[in-house]
Amino acid sequence: MLKKRVIKLAEYPQLRLRRLRRSPALRALVRENRVDAGDLIYPLFIEEGKNIKREIASMPGVFRFSPDRLPGEIEDIAKLKIPAVLLFGIPKEKDETGSSAYKAKGIVQQAIKAIKKTVPELLVITDVCLCEYTSHGHCGVVCDGQVDNDRTLPLLAKMALSHVEAGADIVAPSDMMDGRVLAIRQELDEAGHVETPILSYAAKYSSGFYGPFRSAADSAPQFGDRRSYQMDPANVREALREVEADIVEGADIVMVKPALSYLDVIREVRNTFDYPLAAYNVSGEYSMVKAAAKQGWLDEKNVVMEILTSIKRAGADIILTYHAKDAARWLKEG
Ligand code: PBG
Repeated sequence: MLKKRVIKLAEYPQLRLRRLRRSPALRALVRENRVDAGDLIYPLFIEEGKNIKREIASMPGVFRFSPDRLPGEIEDIAKLKIPAVLLFGIPKEKDETGSSAYKAKGIVQQAIKAIKKTVPELLVITDVCLCEYTSHGHCGVVCDGQVDNDRTLPLLAKMALSHVEAGADIVAPSDMMDGRVLAIRQELDEAGHVETPILSYAAKYSSGFYGPFRSAADSAPQFGDRRSYQMDPANVREALREVEADIVEGADIVMVKPALSYLDVIREVRNTFDYPLAAYNVSGEYSMVKAAAKQGWLDEKNVVMEILTSIKRAGADIILTYHAKDAARWLKEG
């Protein structure tokens, strides 16, 4: 009979965890998570007009571009081996139903064409949401002072289809209406775009960290807030239900947003679902780092790489971040 083997774990002084931290090569050998430029998506703000490259005051290093100024920027992004960009449009005209969002010659549609002409293989992902296009700044149609879920769905579907028709590779609904992934999937499929993936902002929280984005994209709600559609920051079980619903409706990639105050949500989603998972390192998270670094209170490179690594460690495969270009440059330099 085999004797039961008792494994005696080493303890100090045999056990010395510092042994594997002695040199850069040893640390690299046992490193559990790495950030690669190929994991990153760089958000771009596109403004209607000509010859515009305007820095966003609250987001130093991030610019609003007019479509004619995109080629140089796109070449830089591609050279850094960042595989994808995420487009936000800033239209000249807004109305009650956000109709400039689904015009064939809308601002995002123009930008997609300009990008595809410059670097065809760069993945173009478009944010699908009405808030930058509606006069009231809400993410859907407003009826009797409420954001009307079901009346918004066909508009989102139309918007997604017009992006795909202009050449978008992936559409990313960020509005948080119920049923929008299904509505978009059906619209795309009926038009024959069965191969176009949907990246859904599945667990998107109602967060104060979107502040700088809303001034950058002129998309702050003119009355009320977004708490009737975006998630309560206190909830994590509900995030799993949101992700599950989007997967059932046909999402190909799911996202948790924001990232840093929600690393636990990223981990829960990673443990529960086997789908590609993205996390959005949002505007406020970027601005805090930039502001502190400018004061000399933080070392920017160190902190950015630590943040991105933490998001991967939490379980994200893909990171949307305004730090993408800097991070890719630092990774290249080694
Ligand atoms: C549009 C949208 C927002 C962000 C991405 N898509 C703003 C919001 O929901 O108010 C935020 C991005 C960021 O803060 O970096 N709905």
